[in-house]
Amino acid sequence: MKSVLLIPATSAAFLHTPGTVALLQESGFDVTIATDAEAFAEYVRIATGKPPVPWTDEFHGYDAVLMAPFSSDYGVPGTDAPLIVAPFLSGGAAAPSIDGATVLVPDGPDAPMGRLGSGRVASPEQCVEAVVTALTPQDFAGRTILLTAGPTIEDADPARFISNRSTGRMGVAIAAMAARRGAKVILVHGPMLAPVPKVQNVVPVAVRSAEQMQEAVLAHIGKADVAILCAAVADFAPDSYSEEKIKKGKSQHFTLQMHRTPDILATVGALPNKPFLVGFAAESNDIRNNALDKLRRKNCDMLCANDILAPGCGFATDTNSLLVFTRDGACTEIPLASKADVANAMLDLVLTYNI
Ligand code: CTP
Repeated sequence: MKSVLLIPATSAAFLHTPGTVALLQESGFDVTIATDAEAFAEYVRIATGKPPVPWTDEFHGYDAVLMAPFSSDYGVPGTDAPLIVAPFLSGGAAAPSIDGATVLVPDGPDAPMGRLGSGRVASPEQCVEAVVTALTPQDFAGRTILLTAGPTIEDADPARFISNRSTGRMGVAIAAMAARRGAKVILVHGPMLAPVPKVQNVVPVAVRSAEQMQEAVLAHIGKADVAILCAAVADFAPDSYSEEKIKKGKSQHFTLQMHRTPDILATVGALPNKPFLVGFAAESNDIRNNALDKLRRKNCDMLCANDILAPGCGFATDTNSLLVFTRDGACTEIPLASKADVANAMLDLVLTYNI
């Protein structure tokens, strides 16, 4: 179990620390709190099962040290562990830069401390994510990944559209894990249920239709070392958009004329200087042949096939399993696991093939 020393300063700790401690513990960390504040001691005992450690100038023996909320009235202690500092910023103050520390700039005005006048501090989620990132090997550092995720929506009229059941969870898991491992992620996503990871390394580009997704992908593809196209792009879109709601009238049947949307994966596969290209495929039968055919047709370097009939896989689940095919015909099975673990195993394979 990895250990985190949490050093809260400022009275904002009364609001901030309980959420941070709970989240650190949920993430599997052993939490110790350093404080001299008597009023805080009983809370610390209940929350962590041990008394607070007193403030000193040096803290050693922890895997990470998190100062949150930090006030510049306090000094920054010496430590041999990664140091993450979440300053409490009042009155629109800018975050200080601190030598040797990762300083967290609050996500936005809706950060939880917004209610303390104009004060802001990075949320417990942001703090814990920074701790996890500090303890994760940065094997994707220096790489940019262009990722598509979620469904696309093809509008028919102001009230109706064609789409699919994709929630975007697999794509979001890939974005979050790649960012944690040091990649810069450009996340081109359709309207999806899964929230976009609020981390500095993930740059979201929101689109709606397949056409808009293709436009955004082509606008950013030049920056990408790796492209992972995981979106469930609608295959067909209505031929025309009716500005007025289509009335049902007296008819008992309705036919919507549709056309094929652009195949974004095939378009990227045909680019002269394409990045290392990873496609996804939902298959129900003859997975190996269908997957290898898709990989070659769309000129991918890697193709991740989902057996949509296997239990625990596919849309709206927290888990997934993949069969990953490469150009040489090799197939690696990533067994059923959380989408985060599957994303990490898939990213490991990307590193193996795209050195
Ligand atoms: N894809 C895309 N643009 C489309 C359709 C699909 O980029 N218009 C991408 C998806 O993001 C995914 C892969 O292509 O990476 C899936 O290919 P596709 O041939 O659509 O797979 P299936 O939906 O399984 O299609 P099929 O009907 O051929 O089985």
